Amino acid sequence: MTAPGSNKESDKWNAIYQSRQQTGETTKLSPAYILQEFHHLLPAQGKALDLASGPGANALFLAQHNMESHAWDISSIAIEKLKEISSSLNLDIKTEVRDVVTSPPEENSFDVIVVSHFLDRQIMPEIIAALRENGLLFYQTFTRTRVQDSGPSSDKYRLGKNELLDLCKDLDTIVYREEGTIGDTESGFRNEALYIGQCRSVNVSKGQVI
Ligand SMILES: C[S@@+](CC[C@H](N)C(=O)[O-])C[C@H]1O[C@@H](n2cnc3c(N)ncnc32)[C@H](O)[C@@H]1O
Repeated sequence: MTAPGSNKESDKWNAIYQSRQQTGETTKLSPAYILQEFHHLLPAQGKALDLASGPGANALFLAQHNMESHAWDISSIAIEKLKEISSSLNLDIKTEVRDVVTSPPEENSFDVIVVSHFLDRQIMPEIIAALRENGLLFYQTFTRTRVQDSGPSSDKYRLGKNELLDLCKDLDTIVYREEGTIGDTESGFRNEALYIGQCRSVNVSKGQVI
């Protein structure tokens, strides 16, 4: 029987996080490369969302960088883990067990949105509309072109070439990196693409980035 409030996606991710806990696999606490490398672009303060946060390494990092940090994930187990970790570190993170596809962020509500290792193309317009004026989107996830077999097996969850540029075309591009299979594939940033874009101005009434 399915527990109240559960759905296929939350069941799938709860099972993954539960099995990681049972096998003693350590919870990944390192923030995404995009934050480690480009945190100097973060505003001095503001409201930040780690969307599809998992156990929230990005949210913890954002809280440590003076942001009002929010973390949303469909997995209650991942969110419980984040609550445990944030309280042990004495960091205030506003957590929500939330399906971001059926309940994406509201328009004009965040100064920073971070998405790592999650892709649902249908909510890209909502993610972009959720940025406040001058807000920043930090996005990093897997590409179809890869040199190692890490990440999801289905192409549905992997980016095509330059796809983040296309998905985020209404933002001003600040950083884009996608190295594919060029040159020495033992080095560099491989298997993933990263994008940072800024929302220069928002027409709130129409919900359009202009
Ligand atoms: C590969 S993990 C990435 C977690 C984290 N962002 C990271 O980079 O380590 C994908 C996450 O997306 C979450 N997720 C999948 N579908 C979701 C949805 N519809 N709404 C919210 N979270 C979702 C899963 O529970 C999982 O924690």
